[in-house]
Amino acid sequence: MRVLSGIQPSGALHLGNYFGMMRKMIDYQDKSELFAFIANFHAMTSVHDGKTLATGTMDAACNFMALGLDPEKSVFWVQSDVPEVVELAWYLSNFTPVGLLERSHSYKDKVAREQAPNAGLFFYPVLMAADILLYQTDRVPVGKDQKQHLEITRDIAIKWNNEYGDIFTIPESEIDDNVALVPGTDGQKMSKSYGNSIEVFSERNVLKKKVMSVVTDSTPVDEPKDPDTCNVFALYKLFAPADRTATLAENYRAGGMGYGEVKKELLELIWEYFAPYRERREELTADPGHVRKILLEGADKARYHAVKTLRKIRKRVGSTYFKDK
Ligand code: ADP
Ligand code: TRP
Repeated sequence: MRVLSGIQPSGALHLGNYFGMMRKMIDYQDKSELFAFIANFHAMTSVHDGKTLATGTMDAACNFMALGLDPEKSVFWVQSDVPEVVELAWYLSNFTPVGLLERSHSYKDKVAREQAPNAGLFFYPVLMAADILLYQTDRVPVGKDQKQHLEITRDIAIKWNNEYGDIFTIPESEIDDNVALVPGTDGQKMSKSYGNSIEVFSERNVLKKKVMSVVTDSTPVDEPKDPDTCNVFALYKLFAPADRTATLAENYRAGGMGYGEVKKELLELIWEYFAPYRERREELTADPGHVRKILLEGADKARYHAVKTLRKIRKRVGSTYFKDK
């Protein structure tokens, strides 16, 4: 089974991204054939500074590999290193009803917030469909926010197969409803756009400040507390083993324990959890030439599959205008 997913290189990686998506994707490399890429073309809908996009892309690649993505076990590349994806997106766009794109939630949300959305933002789901269909993907693990994009992809693929004969594998989305929404420092969903993120790779003093600023209620130290409504506890259980989490829950209910104490423990847990990854990340960022080489090798592997699909399509749509190409 071929599993594919992409991550945009916009903004520093936070705990929500890691537990909500990246870790799950990395787990796939031991269970299936994983295709994982950095969606830098998609990030251009919001990042318009070349340097920021380039460093963000390299950063995302280093983070992914530091956190366990093994380019020997999976196909790992940067989207723009296989530009054939844009060719497919163009072909697909000619069979994509405008109404379908106008109904896209993420487009509508952005239109509501921005005054003049660019055409790239509107076209975003078609490029995403091309990412998925180009590699004949069976399954796409994504967050709930991407569900509609997957439905659009399936619609486009089914339409194509009806029109041109079976070309595309129809992908299934995999949306894990059990993935807990990781709360940010203010208790809302952690998101870079809310300014409430705790970054995976921050300096210790920055991390400390963030953890200490997690919002709690004002129950006095002596009184019993409810672990199930506490943001610190929600973060704690992502890092601590089950028995330690259970003990903490008992201590909450018994009273006599302050939130400050738990936050200090949480800080140590986060710091220790990412320590080996931090080291690996430092090695990777110190040698960008090596990372670039790995990414280009990944792009070669990805392109092999991309070209196989595109050859068939060029022939069917007629863009190959001479025989037997
Ligand atoms: P942000 O909200 O910071 O802009 P993105 O939308 O770029 O993050 O997130 C990419 C993916 O990371 C999402 O599709 C989702 O799967 C996951 N994710 C982001 N924030 C959280 C969170 N707070 N809890 C769980 N998963 C999250
Ligand atoms: N749109 C996805 C996100 O913002 C990233 C992405 C681009 C993607 N192309 C994809 C995810 C293809 C899965 C499959 O999270």
